[in-house]
Amino acid sequence: MTNKTWIITGTSTGFGKSLATLLAKKPDVNLVATARNPEKLAYLDEFDHGQIKKLTLDVTNQSEIDAVVKETQSAFGSIDVLVNNAGIGYFGTFEESDRETVKYMFDVNVWGLVDMTRAVLPAMRQQKSGVIVNFSSIGGLFSFPTLSFYHGTKFAVEGISESLAKEVTDFNIKVMLIEPSGFRTDWAGRSSEKALPKIEDYQQFEKFIEGNAEGAHHEAGDPDKAAAIIYDQVTDHAADLPLRLPLGKFASDTAIQKYTASLAQFEKLHDLSASADQPE
Ligand SMILES: NC(=O)c1ccc[n+]([C@@H]2O[C@H](COP(=O)([O-])OP(=O)(O)OC[C@H]3O[C@@H](n4cnc5c(N)ncnc54)[C@H](OP(=O)(O)O)[C@@H]3O)[C@@H](O)[C@H]2O)c1
Repeated sequence: MTNKTWIITGTSTGFGKSLATLLAKKPDVNLVATARNPEKLAYLDEFDHGQIKKLTLDVTNQSEIDAVVKETQSAFGSIDVLVNNAGIGYFGTFEESDRETVKYMFDVNVWGLVDMTRAVLPAMRQQKSGVIVNFSSIGGLFSFPTLSFYHGTKFAVEGISESLAKEVTDFNIKVMLIEPSGFRTDWAGRSSEKALPKIEDYQQFEKFIEGNAEGAHHEAGDPDKAAAIIYDQVTDHAADLPLRLPLGKFASDTAIQKYTASLAQFEKLHDLSASADQPE
């Protein structure tokens, strides 16, 4: 059996590290583990027998993206799975969020994912196979206060991925969105800036932001279990890969509640909605 080659972004900590660790132990996987600082990838060395590449990648840097794709192809030939995992957060009310900082979050969470995907698609189209795993969030389906711009990035990832999936289906390229609820990674801690409300009217949200910061690494979700589920879906369920995969009980419950309520609302509004068309 020929090895499958996986590229993962953001493997220094969290989901990326869990998935990279799992893949590093597989006998039939070539792993391209990337990080802004590859020195953080020393944890992979004990598993490396020539099937692992540790490469520098800031997903906002196009020349690093191009270099990763080139090095992957020259080392391993094909690119079978891309996992767009790298991402950051930002807590702050809509009115008070810092424009430059949340724009940078869009650069990482949306444009980084887009540019990585565009860089691998020519190879996947040519080989007529591939899987693109895009980290969204339950926050790509459902919103909380103080996360408006984070939700903006993840709702963008959802729409982009859904449309892309329809464009590449004929080339046997699958797209899967991962929608976790809270997991024990660095996301709610060091990877999310917190802008506590300064405007008196928004003081009620301070506790929510502080609670998230304090709850970091105590969330219900286990990133190692998430990694095992993602690996299993991609390798054993590739033929019927779900476009959306909520991970964690809260994510699943929230997705079901949101879509159930939305369905009831759309049905209630159906005649009114349809009445806006020209008569046939
Ligand atoms: N944990 C959760 O509860 C949760 C829930 C829903 C969705 N998610 C999503 O899961 C994904 C992974 O996050 P995580 O939870 O595993 O958090 P994490 O432990 O903080 O990991 C984030 C990773 O992204 C990397 N990264 C940040 N900016 C980058 C950039 N410009 N270029 C390349 N890599 C960059 C970080 O690298 P450095 O070490 O260099 O900072 C780190 O490896 C994110 O997309 C996040 O939005 C997380």
